[in-house]
Amino acid sequence: MTSPVTKYTKPPSDYVRIFDTTLRDGEQCPGATLTSEEKLEVARALSRLGVDVIEAGFPSASPDDFQAVREIADTIGKEPVAGRPSSEPPIICGLARATEKDIQTAFDAVRVAKFPRIHIFLATSPLHREHKLRMTKEQVMERARAMVTFAKQLCADVEFSPEDAGRTEPDFLHEVLTAVIECGATTLNIPDTVGYTVPAEFGAIIDGIMKNVKGIESVVVSVHCHDDLGLATANALAGIAAGARQAEVTINGIGERAGNTSLEEVVMALHTRQPMYGLRTGIDAAQLVRTSRLVSVRTGMVVPPNKAIVGANAFAHESGIHQDGMLKHAGTYEIMRPETVGASKTLLVMGKHSGRHAFGVRLKELGHVLEGEALEAAFQRFKILADKKKRITDADLEALAASEVARGVEYYALDAVQVTCGSNGMPTATVRLRCPDGELRTQAAIGTGPVHAVFTAIDEIVNAPSELVEYTINAVTEGIDALGHASVHVRAIGSGEGRLNAQHGSGGATILHGQAADSDVIVASTKAYLGALNRLLVTLGTFDKQAEKSQVNEKSQVREQTTGAAE
Ligand code: KIV
Ligand code: ZN
Repeated sequence: MTSPVTKYTKPPSDYVRIFDTTLRDGEQCPGATLTSEEKLEVARALSRLGVDVIEAGFPSASPDDFQAVREIADTIGKEPVAGRPSSEPPIICGLARATEKDIQTAFDAVRVAKFPRIHIFLATSPLHREHKLRMTKEQVMERARAMVTFAKQLCADVEFSPEDAGRTEPDFLHEVLTAVIECGATTLNIPDTVGYTVPAEFGAIIDGIMKNVKGIESVVVSVHCHDDLGLATANALAGIAAGARQAEVTINGIGERAGNTSLEEVVMALHTRQPMYGLRTGIDAAQLVRTSRLVSVRTGMVVPPNKAIVGANAFAHESGIHQDGMLKHAGTYEIMRPETVGASKTLLVMGKHSGRHAFGVRLKELGHVLEGEALEAAFQRFKILADKKKRITDADLEALAASEVARGVEYYALDAVQVTCGSNGMPTATVRLRCPDGELRTQAAIGTGPVHAVFTAIDEIVNAPSELVEYTINAVTEGIDALGHASVHVRAIGSGEGRLNAQHGSGGATILHGQAADSDVIVASTKAYLGALNRLLVTLGTFDKQAEKSQVNEKSQVREQTTGAAE
């Protein structure tokens, strides 16, 4: 028998552990797929934010998922990143279904972390037992016992989740939880998997567990709520009030369907209402907005302006009455100060005389580690922007940095784009792309609007098996000279199932996103669409095939070829 690699310790009773599952339950939602590099960047930001546990992924989903979790365990999980409020690195957790193979794989991925955790889940509700697992209560109980025992031989820190606990018979739920504590589980996570419960009910479920499960005082009870009825935060808080001391959450509340409980909402509710709850977390709230922005640009999941804590309007006071009250005393209409969550409009920052070094240092302070060519490219774009815009803010810098990292493999790269549009006449776009074989191809197209025309022209050249799912454009900052941030999601047609989803087996359609920022919204939109198509072609393996083809062609000269509507 292998001995457990770490000793497990329970936190003090007034401390709520923040377990972030942005990289697992959040990333599981269609279109939010991240590259390994992006996952590492988000993990670094989460560590800096002060989360206690990072659920880095589901290592059995694919070899890439395994590698990404392992890399996070090997870096972020080894020592605290600069700026982390705690002197210890976070616990790195890997999800596993209740099979020895999954558990071993999860452990292999996280074992290099200083504090590894295995998270096993097994459905317990009658509906899941009968229709998904086709197992009796006895079989579920037996499997839960056996798998927690197996995991405990590998790792001291074992979390167990009775999936769909919210719809499980209370007596059976208590029996299963008592059994897994006996087998060594250290955290019992209670998922409302389908977001079915309401706060009083979910609070009562946690209360029932606290009172009826033998050995409960030696473990941490955790809440994991989904937002199908818009109650995820309220349910999580009801669970915490009843005794839970870990909250499973995601940045911006991203996740499948309506999403998960949002980290920033739970943290700020506990912080703002501290006298009532008497609880604390290890989160550095001043990093909430920054982390939210990073996750939004990386996943392409746009934050609605009215989103609590991190939405663009969360601290905006438009009405005259409110503004008057605010001027007399901020507390009249504001329960939190914007600076507490890092939302103050720090209009620093840099202008056109700022140098490369200062630019790099500021980006680093904002959490973007750009080096070499990427740093140089971002700096050149910053210089161009500084010529057009008087004051460049942190948000502008973050958008520039995000665009650089998001570029990834530039299979098709933008060389030029031009549009003609207006109230009379037909929106027309001409696009020139550098293709994988080095050729420059120009294509013109008409559309219902300039962006549609641009996307149609690109489709003519790239000819990827894809369809547009979503396109959004937002201003990064206020003012007429704001940078435009474009986000695009495309679906691969006929690509079959995506990677394995821990809970419902298949990954569904493959959806990829691209994003870009530019002072010209057409340029931003063009780059974002190309970014999404490039990712899609890489995912489908077309990139490799085309690269081979281009080697065979051995085209050394760049040749210009004009085709399409312009001819
Ligand atoms: O919602 C859920 O039940 C889950 C489990 C895997 C914990 O995400
Ligand atoms: Zn979940």
